Formats: sequence, C-alpha cells, structure tokens
Amino acid sequence: MMLPFVLLSTLLPLLVVAQDGSISGPTSSSQAAGYSCDPNKCKLPTCNCASTSPPGGLKPSDVPQFIVFTADDAIQSYTLDAVNQFLAQRKNPNGCPPKMTYFTSLSFTNYTLVTDWYVAGNEIADHTMTHVGTPPADEINGNLIALNALAGIPLSDIKGFRAPFLNYSVDTLKLLAQSAFTYDSSAAASIPVDDPDTDAFWPYTLDNGMANDCLEVPGSCKGEPKLPGFWEIPMYAFFDNRGVAGPHLMDPWLDAANGQSTVDDAATLDYMKKTFTAHYNGNRQPIGLYTHPIHLSLTYPGVNAPKSTIAMINNFLDWAQEQQNVWIVSNEQLLEWVKNPVPVSQLNDFVPLKCSSPNVDASMKICNGVPQNENGLLSHCAFSDFPFYTCYGCPSEQPSPANPNPPQATSSAPARHRLPTNCSTPFWDPIDGKCVCNSDSCKFTDLSRPIGPNGANLTGGGTGSDFNPSAADAGPSYVPFNGAAVSSRLPQGVWSAVLLGSVGAVLGALGVISRL
Ligand SMILES: *[C@@H]1O[C@H](CO)[C@@H](O)[C@H](O)[C@H]1NC(C)=O
Ligand SMILES: *[C@@H]1O[C@H](CO)[C@@H](O)[C@H](O)[C@H]1NC(C)=O
Ligand SMILES: *[C@@H]1O[C@H](CO)[C@@H](O)[C@H](O)[C@H]1NC(C)=O
Ligand SMILES: *[C@@H]1O[C@H](CO)[C@@H](O)[C@H](O)[C@H]1NC(C)=O
Repeated sequence: MMLPFVLLSTLLPLLVVAQDGSISGPTSSSQAAGYSCDPNKCKLPTCNCASTSPPGGLKPSDVPQFIVFTADDAIQSYTLDAVNQFLAQRKNPNGCPPKMTYFTSLSFTNYTLVTDWYVAGNEIADHTMTHVGTPPADEINGNLIALNALAGIPLSDIKGFRAPFLNYSVDTLKLLAQSAFTYDSSAAASIPVDDPDTDAFWPYTLDNGMANDCLEVPGSCKGEPKLPGFWEIPMYAFFDNRGVAGPHLMDPWLDAANGQSTVDDAATLDYMKKTFTAHYNGNRQPIGLYTHPIHLSLTYPGVNAPKSTIAMINNFLDWAQEQQNVWIVSNEQLLEWVKNPVPVSQLNDFVPLKCSSPNVDASMKICNGVPQNENGLLSHCAFSDFPFYTCYGCPSEQPSPANPNPPQATSSAPARHRLPTNCSTPFWDPIDGKCVCNSDSCKFTDLSRPIGPNGANLTGGGTGSDFNPSAADAGPSYVPFNGAAVSSRLPQGVWSAVLLGSVGAVLGALGVISRL
C-alpha cells in the first residue's frame, strides 16, 4: 500500500503545474476576430453563429442560467471524492442530481472509476493520453481507443475535448473535427459580459471560424478554421474588481484576487457572485466552474486543501442555486439545450436533463460500472507507476499513444470481452461476453470513428488480443490499433505513423520530466 502512495506524492509537482491555463487579460477583440456569420444561413441544430444572445431567439427571462462543472486530468478515487464534495448533495430544479464533464487524461487514471462515473450519468471527455499541449493525433485518438477498451465508454459518447494547459492550435481543432468530436472547450471568454466588446459567446459552431482567443492562436479567426457543425464551448472567466484586467479562468480559488498577493476566499466568493449576477441579469451566457479537483482533495496523500476554500465553493453553489432557473450541467447537457433551446417552462420535461439510471438488477454479479454489481469482479492491473483496476481485462503493457490498446494479458486470467457496438456499458457482461439487456429501453448502438491509422474507422468489441476479422462481436469495420498483430492488413504509411507515434511518446515523456 505504501509504495503507490510514495510514487503518487512524487507526481504532485506535475499536478500543480497542470493548473496552468490561466489568462491575464483579453484573449480576443472584435477586430482580431473579424467574425461574420449570417443567422439566416446558419441555423440550429447543426449550425449556430457566435453570439452573445441566447440561442433560438429566446428572451433571457426564458433562458436557464447554466453552471457548467468540469474537472480535468486523471480520474482517481481522490479526484472523484473532491468533485463529490460539491455535487453529490445537490439537486437540479427537476429533482435530478447534477452531472458534470470530466476531461480525462490517462496517465495515473484508475479505469474502473471512469466506467463508474460514466454509468452514473456523467460525461467523459478527452484531455489527451499523457497530458500534452498542442497534441498530435495519436494523443487525442489514443485516448478514445483506451477509454473504449479499458473503461467501456462507447465511442459515440466521447464527444468533447479540452487541451492540456488550454494549449491548442488551429491544427488541434482540425484534428478534433476529423476524429468526429462534437466540440472543443479550450478557448477563453475573456471579456466581461457587460462590456460592449465581450467575447462571452454562447456555444457556437465553427462554420465561420473561431471568434475566441483570436489574439492568442495563430491562424484562427477571420473565418478560420471553417469546421462546419463542430462546436466551441467557450470557458467563461470570472472577473475580480479589476474587471477585464482581473480574469480568473481555471481554479479561480487558487488565485489571489484584486491584485493582492495572497489567496482570500472571501474576495474570491465576492467576485464569483458578481460575475454570476452579471450573466444572470444579462443574456444568461453559461458560467463555469473549471476545476483541477486534485487541488480540492481532502484524501490525496500530501495535499491539504484548505477546508475554507471547499466551504467557499459550496457557499457559492448554495447561493447560486437559491436563484430561479439555475441548473448545474455537463457540457454535453448544455450543448443539447443550445441545439434545441426550450424555454425554462419546459425544462422539467427536457430529456437530456432528466435523471437516468440504468435498470440493472442490483443482485446481478456483472462487471458493469455499478459498484454493487461489479464488487469483487475487477481486474487489478499492477503497473509500477500507477496500478489500476478495470472490468475489461488488463493489457499486457500500459496503454500509450503508440499503442493505446495493447493485447490483453491472459496468462493468469481468461480474456475479457470489450464493450461491443450493440450493448450499452451497464448491460454488458465482459466476463461472459453477453449483453443482459432484453428490452427496447436499453437498446444501444455505438458508432465507429475515423481514429485509426490513416483514418481507419474503429469500433469497439473484441478482446484486445490478436485481430480476428471474423470475430462475431467485432463490427464489420473493426480495425485494431495494435499494429503488431496486423501488419499485413494495414495500408502503406501506417508504419511511419506508428513510428511517429513512438517519437511523440518519447517527447511526451520528456515533457513530463521537464515539468517535474
Ligand atoms: C481504484 O479503484 C478501485 C476499485 O474501485 C478502488 O478500490 C481503489 O481505491 C482506486 N484507487 C485509486 C487511487 O483511485
Ligand atoms: C503550447 O505548446 C507549444 C508546442 O508544444 C509550445 O511551443 C508553446 O510554448 C505552448 N504555449 C503555451 C502558452 O504554453
Ligand atoms: C470511414 O467511414 C466513412 C463514413 O462511412 C467513410 O467515408 C471513410 O472512407 C471511411 N474511412 C476509411 C479509411 O475507410
Ligand atoms: C450484438 O451483435 C452480436 C454479433 O453480431 C450478436 O450475436 C448479439 O446477439 C447482438 N446483441 C444484441 C443485444 O443485439
């Protein structure tokens, strides 16, 4: 037990640096944006112009005030405990527990907890495999492959991406659109909503390019990049007494406010409330709590989050929730509403905000992301830098960008079956390889995504061992990402891609070391 703790403690400097992504002033201007979009041509649900007005022409009084709650980096018991301190005790106006978005990076992630968090209704999104800025394709796509294989997350449900350090380029956005992501959420809304030049746009599609971060990201804005149907969900900053000169984006509670030199929870709470009120009394653009939950952990060895800060954040949420029509949501829920903006009077019947818990018999022994069902059935994968658990069988080596889905280690246990395309996670029994769903209400079909070598369309299924094109549970377009087993089947050019991937992995590792 002690060894992993010691090793984990050595990761702390890395995690502290990972809060980076702070901004110090406006990251865009209307001149730099040079944005134009014709709302008569760009229409919901597939197109939305960057606009400070609510979607669908709704009056602000008919619009819910959404608070987006996100977390970044590895999913571990510590980080989920930290998030639960803020959300577990809450309900939205429809009586359902709030959901959040976890931008997951895979180094040090405990895969079974990803499954549990997803099955509990939260959104699992991509934050690269090894936490690198301006990531290459294998860091982005490898995350999808590993989350599908080892956490049983359907490919069609991994919709969003956030760049580590919020460091993205035009190429990052293009890679995301190519890999069939629905949205990015790395850009800042950096000018207060009550400033006439605000860049606090409602989520928009990139049919007419980006309108945020125009002063920061070379080659973006003025119509670029044009990615029809691909969404940007800006991250909305809080502002202290200095207004536009005092933005606080991620983990605002770690910053000193108002140009002071030390953190003051009372000052943080004050400006968080003021910024919230400016949104609420204006066009109700969403507001966000963008967290690195490790900083708020009371259980992580070596971290001592101030209890006063935790209480302050709960105080903010209590206060916000006392106001009418305030909803705490995941990005995916926010986007469902933006695509189909119903007035607040109809929100109680709005399906994406409803409570959803899979109807699986509590006494069933099945490794499915429900703690009571899967108790005792997890595989323990004892890798030295971070041991993890999974329902889907341990890989023979740790997933990496060069090989996100290594063959399954089967020397000590029979192979487990990975989530196929026609069964949803809580109903899939990876040990017996069968779907326990037998009603229409739990029917499910996953999609393939063009995330393999040379854009090959991948789907889930199989056992992660040698490729067998006739395997019954592998869809017709299943191509494994395990180069070693399938060299003869891959089109030319794959080997150079794999090689580049390995170089990327080495550079990624060096990056980690230099940050330490
Ligand atoms: C990993 O998950 C297992 C199973 O839920 C749990 O017992 C263990 O405490 C977790 N460890 C961490 C560090 O998340
Ligand atoms: C973003 O990443 C690029 C390439 O990795 C690096 O050169 C640049 O310094 C980073 N920018 C920031 C603001 O971290
Ligand atoms: C992947 O699927 C899409 C849509 O069906 C298709 O257009 C594309 O050619 C496929 N890619 C490959 C490499 O087969
Ligand atoms: C899923 O597909 C497999 C293979 O095609 C088939 O045997 C199985 O019955 C399907 N399961 C469900 C629940 O439709």
